[in-house]
Amino acid sequence: MSKSNKKTTPLGPASRVAIDIGIGEKDRKAIADGLSRLLADTYTLYLTTHNFHWNVTGPMFQTLHLMFEVQYNELWLAIDLIAKRIRALGHVAPGTYKQFSELSAIKEEDGVPKATDMIRLLVDGHETVARTAARSSRRPTTPATSRRAIC
Ligand SMILES: [Fe+2]
Repeated sequence: MSKSNKKTTPLGPASRVAIDIGIGEKDRKAIADGLSRLLADTYTLYLTTHNFHWNVTGPMFQTLHLMFEVQYNELWLAIDLIAKRIRALGHVAPGTYKQFSELSAIKEEDGVPKATDMIRLLVDGHETVARTAARSSRRPTTPATSRRAIC
């Protein structure tokens, strides 16, 4: 076991298993950090959507109740894939509400918004997730990856 495998990360101890997947440790850390923010945003949007599924009222109840259910189920599936990708990079996936609230760019709502406000808030949340995903998918800019980008 190399000395670098004993390092700790803000989320806990790094992997104890040497990883050789063609991505250096610095780049794997940068990617895992971006995916951790994406996981936090996605989890927060998942919980918000589930909350709205439970609490929506009014003449659009049936339509929104069902649409929110479809969406929170999709988000739930995405969360697991993102977390497993972080683990595959040799890093610890955030998994507490405390970590998610620190990492997420989506702020949770107090109270129960009107149905039309729920829609607007969820659109904003999806846009935030899309921005975070776009940022996290940018190639790290270390010299090693810059050379690969040119090839
Ligand atoms: Fe339900």
